[in-house]
Amino acid sequence: MKRYLTVDDIGDLSQALQEAKEVKRTPYAWDTLGKNKTIILIFFNSSLRTRLSTQKAAMNLGMNVIVLDVNKDGWKLESEFGVIMDGDKPEHLREAVPVIGRYCDIIAVRSFATFEDKKADYEENILNQFIEFAGVPVISMESATRHPLQAFADLFTIEEYKTKARPKVVLTWAPHPRALPQAVPNSFAEWMKKADVEFVITHPKGYELAPEFSNGATIEYDQNKAFENADFIYAKNWASYSEYGQILSKDRSWTVDEEKMKLTNNAKFMHCLPVRRNMIVSDEVIDSENSIVIDEAANREVSAQVVIKRMLENLNQD
Ligand code: CP
Repeated sequence: MKRYLTVDDIGDLSQALQEAKEVKRTPYAWDTLGKNKTIILIFFNSSLRTRLSTQKAAMNLGMNVIVLDVNKDGWKLESEFGVIMDGDKPEHLREAVPVIGRYCDIIAVRSFATFEDKKADYEENILNQFIEFAGVPVISMESATRHPLQAFADLFTIEEYKTKARPKVVLTWAPHPRALPQAVPNSFAEWMKKADVEFVITHPKGYELAPEFSNGATIEYDQNKAFENADFIYAKNWASYSEYGQILSKDRSWTVDEEKMKLTNNAKFMHCLPVRRNMIVSDEVIDSENSIVIDEAANREVSAQVVIKRMLENLNQD
């Protein structure tokens, strides 16, 4: 594996899930694989889970780990081409990325959508410069359009908790005070459509995901109807794609509460975290025994370790 950006990079899902199971059972079985190899985790945006789980996964594999918070620790980086660099960004990604690639064997990067330019966000302007100029394998730790380490952990968590061969999984929009990117719901949809699940997306009108992510999923605008007989409820807020980056609703009737969970088949509650209590989900639901958000977050270490392990195996073959 030379890049990890979308569901297509993981290959066969059942093989990946089997590997995740082995990694979870024996996380230190490959603790010399990364000897004398260095991974850098580059953050343009904040993180708790992604930073810690990816760092831990790399350490489990015996790697050296560097963490760079671009906004605090480095020069501010320009990403546009052809600009006169007379502003507050003294270095261009065009030089910074290949330099980093000379020091490190794997680059992992987090760079969210800016909501300033839909085309630039959906063309993955920043991530693509890492892929083009790094000269080493690149892992997305959440880009403008996808969060593949999260989606892999989500699917693995569903696999661990499912009680039937083909569970009903519902992705529900929920209200939030700020405009959030579509990366998590996009990736979740991408992974669920490939998995053996009945997949339903529910959201208010105007919150349709980009067609490349929603096509093939069942869209149900009535949240109560969507929840009927669900085995997993995956809550998330996202800003509008059609009216790009806009908040069209803060309707708290979409908050996941006990009444709505009663419509389900005793569903497990999932969220990628961080979560706004009593906006996205009521205290009662997230604190209930059906909430699996902590196990879901713990599985981020597993998904990261499978991806880094595959990259190291590939590097050691070269
Ligand atoms: N779920 C997730 O990516 O969490 P962080 O933003 O804390 O990394």
